[in-house]
Amino acid sequence: MALKVRAAGVKDLPGIIALLTPVEGDQERLRADQFAVAEADGGSIIGCGRLKPYRGFVELASIAIAEEWRGQGVGRAIVAQLLAGRKGQVYLMCEDNRLDFFSQFEFVVLRGNQMPAGLRPKWQHYIGEVDHLNLMRRE
Ligand SMILES: CC(C)(COP(=O)(O)OP(=O)(O)OC[C@H]1O[C@@H](n2cnc3c(N)ncnc32)[C@H](O)[C@@H]1OP(=O)(O)O)[C@@H](O)C(=O)NCCC(=O)NCCS
Repeated sequence: MALKVRAAGVKDLPGIIALLTPVEGDQERLRADQFAVAEADGGSIIGCGRLKPYRGFVELASIAIAEEWRGQGVGRAIVAQLLAGRKGQVYLMCEDNRLDFFSQFEFVVLRGNQMPAGLRPKWQHYIGEVDHLNLMRRE
């Protein structure tokens, strides 16, 4: 597989939405220019992720890899591209089974009281849907 990770454009939005919908990924304030996408050989979009801007920080969000492509390094390549050269705090929220995946990029788990106010509405939305949610940050 020749994996190509690149910045997304407006024409990628339908593919991004198709990836996020089945995993209930964050589709709030979708803007193509916040996303990186992975392309398979034929040019189809097989994974996506974004840095979602807030006042004073960004959130690593909306990460989804097509089911048949998981476990082959696509998610890692997208996250690495989004974080490359990135300075400043990056937050994310994830379930327990994703902690190891994000730890490899130097994200550490925070306590709930370390949550920026801007993330609280999203946290409240997702906390009702999963068993346990973690807040992580990369310095
Ligand atoms: C989580 C997700 C993005 C990972 O993407 P992926 O392409 O399958 O992951 P990769 O193949 O790049 O994995 C990179 C490394 O992380 C590890 N890894 C992947 N998922 C992991 C997990 N859930 N827990 C622990 N380690 C994990 C892999 O073993 C691999 O390590 P290795 O190269 O040493 O074997 C993908 O499974 C996905 O889209 N899941 C559904 C949507 C989702 O949960 N999004 C994240 C919301 S926070």
